[in-house]
Amino acid sequence: MTDPVTGGDPLGRWHRLAGGAVLLDGFHALKHALRFGAEVPVAVAVDRPAALALAGELAPDVRATLDALLTEVTEATYASLVPRPHPTGVAALAVRPTRAANLERLRRMPRTAPVVVLDHPRNLGNAGAVIRLAAGFGAAGVLTTGTLDPWHPTVLRGGAGLHFATAVERTGVDELPAGPVFALDPEGDDIRGVKLPDDALLAFGSERSGLSAELRARADHLLALPMRPQVSSYNLATSVAMTLYHWSAQGGGRPAARPVP
Ligand SMILES: C[S@@+](CC[C@H](N)C(=O)[O-])C[C@H]1O[C@@H](n2cnc3c(N)ncnc32)[C@H](O)[C@@H]1O
Repeated sequence: MTDPVTGGDPLGRWHRLAGGAVLLDGFHALKHALRFGAEVPVAVAVDRPAALALAGELAPDVRATLDALLTEVTEATYASLVPRPHPTGVAALAVRPTRAANLERLRRMPRTAPVVVLDHPRNLGNAGAVIRLAAGFGAAGVLTTGTLDPWHPTVLRGGAGLHFATAVERTGVDELPAGPVFALDPEGDDIRGVKLPDDALLAFGSERSGLSAELRARADHLLALPMRPQVSSYNLATSVAMTLYHWSAQGGGRPAARPVP
């Protein structure tokens, strides 16, 4: 089948785009990416009718888009396109938003939801879980400092396609957008007495060594999550979850909506 726009068949298109696009691994990642406006030039399924039936059941809002997009491929072809087969047998490539567009989105004021800053995170799974949290709470974005690539395939897998629901970039502490920095640290003041403003930057330290000296110097407030004595710290992603929940429980963000699958 020849594609009138790109002049190639879907598999040819996959191979041409693979270097510059990001892999959406599995049905749920593709569903989320489409819901949040990702540009998806190619998508494949080992069993197209089964994928569309799943869409009918779990994501009727994107079923028509998937019907137009999905190309059926053999199991062997699918396995050659992905590093690790996903149980749903679905994969797609999406265009990564530009760094300029993401940073512009984060700098636009007034901001109506906090930005999460991960200072030198190490664990790709934690970064993915944080992006999923940020998407769920409607945070403005997730910025990382240090060497971890927040668009690494393992982070994308952990984020379940929700990179497209928020703005995700790597940046330096000196390039952080404007806004008061609330840095989370077990030695800080109890978060329960503090109202987090919508334009806050919520900063979290590395799994290994906590907040860097540079981030501490930029912080306006140090806040602690309640924790019993003798426990030294919480996991990074769970700390982000508690902090975003604290912001939302004080009335931040949109009213809770009924979840769609
Ligand atoms: C696994 S912890 C870092 C532990 C590290 N060994 C340290 O010295 O801080 C990762 C990050 O989660 C946040 N965090 C964990 N427990 C916290 C708590 N009780 N209060 C505030 N922040 C916490 C902090 O931002 C921390 O830097």
